[in-house]
Amino acid sequence: MRLWGGRFSGETDDRMRRFHDSFGFDRRLYAADIRGSVAYAAALLRAGLITDDERAAIVEGLGQVKQEFDDGTFEPLPGDEDIHTAVERRLTEIVGSPAGKLHTGRSRNDQIALDVRLWLIMSIDQVSALLTGVQSAIVDKAEVHSGLVMPGYTHLQAAQPVLFAHWLMSTFWMLERDRDRLADCRRRTAVCPLGSGALAGNPFAIDREALAADLGMESATPNSMDAVADRDFIAEFLFAAALIGIHTSRLAEDVVLYTSPGYRFLSIGEAYSTGSSLMPQKRNPDSMELARGKAGRLIGDLVSLLTVLKGLPSTYNKDMQEDKEPLFDAFDTLMLTLPVLAGVVGTITPHAEAMRAALDEAMLATDLADYLVRRGMPFREAHHISGRIVRRAEERDVPLSALALDDFRAESDVFESDVFTVFDFDSSVARRAVTGGTAPEAVAAQIDAARARLSSR
Ligand code: ARG
Repeated sequence: MRLWGGRFSGETDDRMRRFHDSFGFDRRLYAADIRGSVAYAAALLRAGLITDDERAAIVEGLGQVKQEFDDGTFEPLPGDEDIHTAVERRLTEIVGSPAGKLHTGRSRNDQIALDVRLWLIMSIDQVSALLTGVQSAIVDKAEVHSGLVMPGYTHLQAAQPVLFAHWLMSTFWMLERDRDRLADCRRRTAVCPLGSGALAGNPFAIDREALAADLGMESATPNSMDAVADRDFIAEFLFAAALIGIHTSRLAEDVVLYTSPGYRFLSIGEAYSTGSSLMPQKRNPDSMELARGKAGRLIGDLVSLLTVLKGLPSTYNKDMQEDKEPLFDAFDTLMLTLPVLAGVVGTITPHAEAMRAALDEAMLATDLADYLVRRGMPFREAHHISGRIVRRAEERDVPLSALALDDFRAESDVFESDVFTVFDFDSSVARRAVTGGTAPEAVAAQIDAARARLSSR
């Protein structure tokens, strides 16, 4: 059954059919497609286009088709070119002539736009829930190891001491922005295009606002030509997904580095590592390397869609059928990656001694300058003097605290004997008690704020 067969006398070429058919991947939209049709049947009834009995027959038949898809017993036929054709063909077999009224005033153009939106709303909720899972694992871990100090890096160079919990919580907030971005994308996705027809609008008295409300959507799209053309919501989701990929890749990279022999700050559970077929000693953080690598395909999915959309003429064009595979791929990738990430975070064991051993007093050079600033010296000058003292210590190959008071006073007579209190990593961390700083009480406040976010959404 070709939905469009009337105008054609010949058969479709087999190669063309394979090229063109989308049922192989758009069958995933069956629940959304059927939900849209159930709502549309109600709209047809309200418009007086079908009877109550016809609506009842259609809805019951659609229920049976859905059941077949749910159970995996749906039997596709070669003519089922896409999910819309497959559902309508099967519905016709089950209920007969009322099925032929369901598509009144509707086009596959407004139908597919609706289906993808409905599917995406559910999918965004699933991805959000998984992000929440990763975030909860992060907060739990940060809370357990709240006092642990480690080196913080910029340019991968040892910079200043920070709390391990502060480092870990830094990844919470990027994921929080991702969740926010998804919520925002969800809002623009939940607009109902059904009733736009092929491009010009529905010619019957369809109540589009009621239709939108039935589908749990806030409003109906305001322009039928835009409604069948618009795939912004997919692009937005794919951008959000790509950015999640970039964020998880950065967290993953830190874990790869910190578990490596050069650092040994952390280990992760064996369940998330693998060995080498050749080198018996190896324990590789494959989970995190793959999480890093998956970002590549997520970015690719976004670029694929943007490239398909660029320069298309207005309204629907068949190119747009190419929107679905990148969308499904990005969703599937996130559904695989995020639970692994949550699992890995849950098994992180920080190694306090290795972190301590990597703390170098040179990382307190800023604190040394701050000591002078607190005694009235302009920061620029203090920075210079602290730098000279770091150089003295380096030349003698000793830590800063091994210099004599005379060495300090040779550079500035502002230094007093209490300068040696500067060389304490815990105090350095504790001084950064501003909002967003690494002091234990600031990190505790951050964790409270994070928990509040998690329970508010
Ligand atoms: N399979 C199509 C897609 O995914 C559905 C819309 C088809 N519309 C049409 N006029 N052929 O985009």
